[in-house]
Amino acid sequence: MERLKLGFIGAGFVAHFHARALKMVRGIDLAGVHSLKWAEKLAAFAKENELGDCKVYPNVAELCKNCDAVGVFAPNPSRVELVEQIVEAVKAGAELKGLICEKPLARTVAEAKRLVALGKESKVPTAYFENQIHMKAIRNALSQLEPEQKAMGPIALVRSSEEHAGPHEPWFWDPTRQGGGVLSDMACHSIAVSWFCLTPVGKPVTYLEPVSINAETALLKWGQPRYRKDLLDRTGIDYSKTPAEDFCTGIVTFRNPDTGQSTKAQFTNSWMYDKQGLRLLMEGLGPGYAFEVNSLKSPLEVFIGDIAAEAVADAEAALEKATASRGLLAVQPNEADLYGYADELVDARKAFLVGKDGLLNWEYGLEITKLCQAGYMAAERQRTIDLTDSAIQKELDSYTSLIAQGKGAEVLCK
Ligand SMILES: NC(=O)c1ccc[n+]([C@@H]2O[C@H](COP(=O)([O-])OP(=O)(O)OC[C@H]3O[C@@H](n4cnc5c(N)ncnc54)[C@H](O)[C@@H]3O)[C@@H](O)[C@H]2O)c1
Repeated sequence: MERLKLGFIGAGFVAHFHARALKMVRGIDLAGVHSLKWAEKLAAFAKENELGDCKVYPNVAELCKNCDAVGVFAPNPSRVELVEQIVEAVKAGAELKGLICEKPLARTVAEAKRLVALGKESKVPTAYFENQIHMKAIRNALSQLEPEQKAMGPIALVRSSEEHAGPHEPWFWDPTRQGGGVLSDMACHSIAVSWFCLTPVGKPVTYLEPVSINAETALLKWGQPRYRKDLLDRTGIDYSKTPAEDFCTGIVTFRNPDTGQSTKAQFTNSWMYDKQGLRLLMEGLGPGYAFEVNSLKSPLEVFIGDIAAEAVADAEAALEKATASRGLLAVQPNEADLYGYADELVDARKAFLVGKDGLLNWEYGLEITKLCQAGYMAAERQRTIDLTDSAIQKELDSYTSLIAQGKGAEVLCK
């Protein structure tokens, strides 16, 4: 079996998720890592789990020279700079077969366009990592319902949400570094997976045309004095000065270019979901059929009484962003597989080895960035944004949301 030597840039939360996923993937060796922090820990995990001879490299150029493909798993503000370094490495002779970038591709449309241009300049195939589209539950729902879709017509409404109690690292909370709040961070998932599920069987991922978007952003929990102080103490980020939204919701309307039929993606995302931990909820409704995915439903539950709770070292071993370590707990025994990380790596390997982009390339990531930024625009202007209007598309090219500019107080906390 032909193998792909993969290198990671970044060794934090998502890099570890991908390393866990690699335990289930054949034909990829984790060959190296370059990261400002935690690289040794990731390399040790790779060795312990026989994922490959993962070496720690001091810079992007060295990593690229020693790998077949690299994944950018570093924070959003470093994307452009890191991809510029990758392109330099390719020009200097690194023979890369693929470039991966985690969601969200970028913080603004301008940045996303720059990344797409850099990808093209490198002439290396790309993959945009949106794990939810690769979730086995989603793929299974769609394949189970394929005959019904063909007989009755496509799915007309998808509701999708991803919610948890808030991100782990300070940079996520800072709208000027992250690019916004939960809309930028997580609505990118929900919009993408909804668009994918609405797409008629066999059509390309951007077949349905985005027509319009409306959205609301709000600060429902982390702007309250008590939680604001908690956030400031933990992260140094002051939501009385530079708040980001901890809740967003909206609807994207799509049009089928052949039939003219309208379909809708309804998204809801929050960083104030104080239940057991991360929950993904997807629901697709077609004529006479439906599906529902709820990631908190697991065949495994454990119970931990108060008397034993002190012994629990890490609640997140049970579930991403777990909020409790006692009582009746939902446990997902294989989150890396459940959330689609393993399958997106399989897709990237297969594509890169034959010289192609992954199912989702960086151009696709740009389309998702446009939709998220148009969501901010809709929330700021309190009106539906017409995505077919060329003037709006032009405005989006240089648009940075007020929240991302650090002016969230003008639109939130009213
Ligand atoms: N698909 C998902 O569901 C999912 C989940 C979490 C994070 N992500 C995405 O992955 C990216 C990383 O998030 P995370 O949670 O792993 O962040 P993190 O803060 O946990 O880890 C970031 C890692 O990148 C390193 N790093 C930072 N700047 C760097 C630079 N300039 N050069 C090299 N290394 C650098 C850090 O030292 C750290 O090891 C983000 O874009 C985030 O949106 C996706």
